[in-house]
Amino acid sequence: MEPKIAKKGPYMMEMQPGKYYWCSCGQSANQPFCDGSHERLNTGMTPVEVEVRYPKTVAWCGCKHSKKPPYCDGAHNKL
Ligand code: FES
Repeated sequence: MEPKIAKKGPYMMEMQPGKYYWCSCGQSANQPFCDGSHERLNTGMTPVEVEVRYPKTVAWCGCKHSKKPPYCDGAHNKL
């Protein structure tokens, strides 16, 4: 199953330290984070756990095709 393209571009967000679960399936209504939809829809995909250690801006992948998940690598430009 191919992930759904949630957005053709990154979600740029100011992040605080903490643990986050990036949605890899593209089905979450709470992009770019997992809301459990991957399980409800039986996508066979699971979120990527990330620990942010200090406050910073993160470019979360929105198209779900990045080769460096959960971060944007410009893959949306080729979709
Ligand atoms: S909702 Fe997409 S990985 Fe959980």
